[in-house]
Amino acid sequence: MKIALISDVHANLPALQAVLDDLQARPDVGAVYHLGDLVGYAPWPDEVVNRIRVEGIPGIAGNYDSTTATDYKHCGCRYEDPRQEEFSHLSYAWTREHVSPETKAWLGTLPFRLDVRPLGGHLASPTLILVHGAPTLNTLYWTEDRSDDFCRKMAERVGAGSGDVIAFGHTHKPWHRELEGVLFVNTGSVGRPKDGDWRAGYVILDFGAEEPTVEVVRVEYDLERARKAILKSDLPDDFAEYLATGGKPAG
Ligand SMILES: [Fe+2]
Repeated sequence: MKIALISDVHANLPALQAVLDDLQARPDVGAVYHLGDLVGYAPWPDEVVNRIRVEGIPGIAGNYDSTTATDYKHCGCRYEDPRQEEFSHLSYAWTREHVSPETKAWLGTLPFRLDVRPLGGHLASPTLILVHGAPTLNTLYWTEDRSDDFCRKMAERVGAGSGDVIAFGHTHKPWHRELEGVLFVNTGSVGRPKDGDWRAGYVILDFGAEEPTVEVVRVEYDLERARKAILKSDLPDDFAEYLATGGKPAG
């Protein structure tokens, strides 16, 4: 049983399209889930949400989704400097202004966490646990340099044991590691990678072997279309450069 996990599309429709096309060519992938942050930063929030709904891809709420849905005071995003802080606020205001009432209401229905039994609920394991940021908050950044103790606490929090998988996104940088039999998987980002690689990123988990395995996939997409649409919109022009460089803010 292979499961694809896509996260942090961030309103980038061409990137989502490329990932869905890539999945079309992989008939051995039996299920697809999204890990939230469908909106923000790019100009297709309604279109991305509609596509996810039409495709029937189940998933969870990212911080951008839950803050947009609840009119929270900010998007819960991290910024490194005042310039990025300003852009973050601009993006959030733009998104709230442009999402349809239907999209906003639908984002509010997304669950915080989703548990999947890839081999069936009649077996005790493995369980695949999906959250956006971390099991405590969807705004918490679970980066690769987090300690073993942090990972252990998160596993305890969701009741994960040996053979189980906890998957999340939010940092836009893919990584994975195993600790005491629990596999921790950061899926990276479909629509706004920050690891220096501009291509759309997602992961495929394979539960067919004794131990679950991770394949990190990168897919080229129509970057020019995304860049031009951002430049044409009222979103900050820097976001176009950010996509093209895989997360390098314009200096
Ligand atoms: Fe995100």
